[in-house]
Amino acid sequence: MVSVRDLVKAYESLDKADLRVLRIVELGHRRHEYVPVELVLAYSHMPKTAVSRSLAKLNWLGMLVRRVGPYMGYKMTFLGYDCLAIHTLRKRGTIEYISSAPIGVGKESVVYMGGSADGERYVLKFHRVGLTSFRNVRKLRTWLGDRRHVTQLYESRLSAQMEYKALALLNGRVNVPRPIDVNRHVVVMDHIEGLELYRLRSVEEPRRVLEAVVDNAVRAYHMGVVHGDLSEYNVLVDVEGDVWLIDWPQWVPTAHGSAQALFRRDVERIASFFAKRFGTSMDLDKVHAVSGTATSMDVDAVVDEILKRVEDELREE
Ligand SMILES: Nc1ncnc2c1ncn2[C@@H]1O[C@H](COP(=O)(O)OP(=O)(O)OP(=O)(O)O)[C@@H](O)[C@H]1O
Ligand SMILES: [Mg+2]
Repeated sequence: MVSVRDLVKAYESLDKADLRVLRIVELGHRRHEYVPVELVLAYSHMPKTAVSRSLAKLNWLGMLVRRVGPYMGYKMTFLGYDCLAIHTLRKRGTIEYISSAPIGVGKESVVYMGGSADGERYVLKFHRVGLTSFRNVRKLRTWLGDRRHVTQLYESRLSAQMEYKALALLNGRVNVPRPIDVNRHVVVMDHIEGLELYRLRSVEEPRRVLEAVVDNAVRAYHMGVVHGDLSEYNVLVDVEGDVWLIDWPQWVPTAHGSAQALFRRDVERIASFFAKRFGTSMDLDKVHAVSGTATSMDVDAVVDEILKRVEDELREE
């Protein structure tokens, strides 16, 4: 079995035929939980021996899982999906390389460094299941309904699209990493040279930093966006002392029923971290008053746009 650390090695070991077989399995998942070998054969336009060879190799690499039941079929794993996304992002010219090991493994993502041909440094965030991200967006759940058999991959894909959308909405107005590209379950964004807030033992002006975080949360609110999982783990502080809000897949529009409560929780969590760690306090009443203001964002339109993007991507394949 190949561990996640070997993603790049695994990707580099794939030849054209393997990638083609992977893509066919991906397509086959629209109808089958386990894609029948016969179907892969029919669509590949490759000799049977070549298809069998690729399927065996992909299975051995841990990119496909085989099932020998009523018929022999294959199911894509995250590793396989990762490779398809890397391949597309490379073909598009978004990235030229990706780090050999992840720079972070979170609960719902694996994060790699990457870079473009012209020397830009990026972060590639590979989403892993995002059910919690759209707990409250019924439309998304309905859409997932008839795709239950590949739930994890689709949910991760939606999760990535959600995060990308938030970054695109906020970029330039709130300190978030600049979104570069998104494909399948992977978001590419600028790499922020900084440390997570929770790692900092001392800060020169803690009050200024606290106010900057809250100010960014308020600005996002005015853009119609509530983070929903703001904490000392999702704020980066760079060498200049500027703060960056990361990790947006679970954002909710301010028009959403839980938005107010989530906004309060976000701000209070940050404030209590500063109180505990640095003894800094801040009057939050003003902030909470701000959160009462209405917003004009059309939630349905945003969700429709995200669904359309996923459908378009699926059609392209
Ligand atoms: N744009 C970025 N620039 C620099 N580092 C980043 C960036 N995005 C993510 N990271 C790093 O990767 C880690 C995980 O990213 P993120 O918080 O977005 O995902 P996550 O799945 O929520 O992880 P966790 O469950 O640990 O919170 C971050 O804590 C940070 O160290
Ligand atoms: Mg995080």
